[in-house]
Amino acid sequence: MFRSTTIANFKTRETPFYFYDLSLLEATLNEVVKASQKYNYHVHYALKANTNDEILKLIQKAGLGADCVSGNEVEKALAYQFAPTKIAFAGVGKSDKEINLALENEIFCFNSESIQELEVINELAVEKNKIANVALRINPNVMANTHRYITTGLEENKFGINMWELSTVMDRLKDLKNIKLIGLHFHIGSQITDLTAFKSLCIRVNEIQEWFDNRNVLLEHINVGGGLGVDYHNPDENAIPDFETFFKIFDDFLTLKKHQTLHFELGRSIVAQCGTLISRVLYVKNGVKTDFAILDAGMTELLRPALYQAYHKIESLTSKADISQKYDVVGPICESSDCFGKAIELPELKRGDLIAIRTTGAYGQVMELSYNLRDKVKAFYHT
Ligand code: LLP
Repeated sequence: MFRSTTIANFKTRETPFYFYDLSLLEATLNEVVKASQKYNYHVHYALKANTNDEILKLIQKAGLGADCVSGNEVEKALAYQFAPTKIAFAGVGKSDKEINLALENEIFCFNSESIQELEVINELAVEKNKIANVALRINPNVMANTHRYITTGLEENKFGINMWELSTVMDRLKDLKNIKLIGLHFHIGSQITDLTAFKSLCIRVNEIQEWFDNRNVLLEHINVGGGLGVDYHNPDENAIPDFETFFKIFDDFLTLKKHQTLHFELGRSIVAQCGTLISRVLYVKNGVKTDFAILDAGMTELLRPALYQAYHKIESLTSKADISQKYDVVGPICESSDCFGKAIELPELKRGDLIAIRTTGAYGQVMELSYNLRDKVKAFYHT
């Protein structure tokens, strides 16, 4: 829901652009901090969701750590004053250059995904005479009930070490003297709205912890990743995700040892609702069966609908028409998949009307493409 003064402001700007409501981000951060502090949980922000300057500044200020999946993200987190001791570095394919950067900066932890990777981290750490803190990313084989492209915790996914490989990994670790095993890492998927998936994860983690207990391996840190979903259908009613219920599941079902710290890597739930893609109607075209509203934003600015058939609420900000009509809301890119929504009911549109595509703060601007030599999309912030 946008105030008329904000809409008036939009009218004077070149479209498309991302609009970020920083006061909503602050309110969301307050909630996540309050709810996690209750249990002494550590939250790392998953930079991959959004790396915009103003957003990173606020998240760092709120005291969150950083979860990075590339050397560039590690560098960015450091540049924005995230403490190295709060930076986790994950990813199934870390290059030597990226590992070296993380070693030099003595980050909190590498989340490691394979024996081969552990060997490389050890070798590079030996060269630098450093000890690398490592958490093993274990594939818990838990169903996340989300889109198949963003399910990551199943045996058939490329991510993590499978349970049956664990003894071999532990044997090999004995020889890797420059690696310090400090914990375990899990991540079952993203946009998870059925929270029972997290309960299943807790139960699985308890079992896996027993495996380590039986071998007298002490682990200081358990990291359960991210994945908390947001309400794409009702962005105004549910602007802030229910962090309390989310963290309570872990308090209720995960058995932590006295010396253990629990970590989370939340991306979407922190930034999704504060972002909106604002676009203009370029043309309204009457098709045989459908009418098309052709926007000046396309899959190059917001890829999620084309890539995952993701739903984003589409609203008209300026049309005053009393009658409504169904439109296929599409972009200008030369691809049929460049479509934000089919048969969307909107007040009758005309050229120049402003359109808001909601809940695009996470995995929106960061996934921008330069295909068709599109201009870089701009960001505009509101406090
Ligand atoms: N930790 C790990 C290891 C991850 O792979 C991810 C996301 C996160 C944390 C953060 O998850 P979140 O809290 O944001 O759900 N581009 C897709 C989402 C890809 C998520 C990749 N991993 C989308 O637009 O839906």
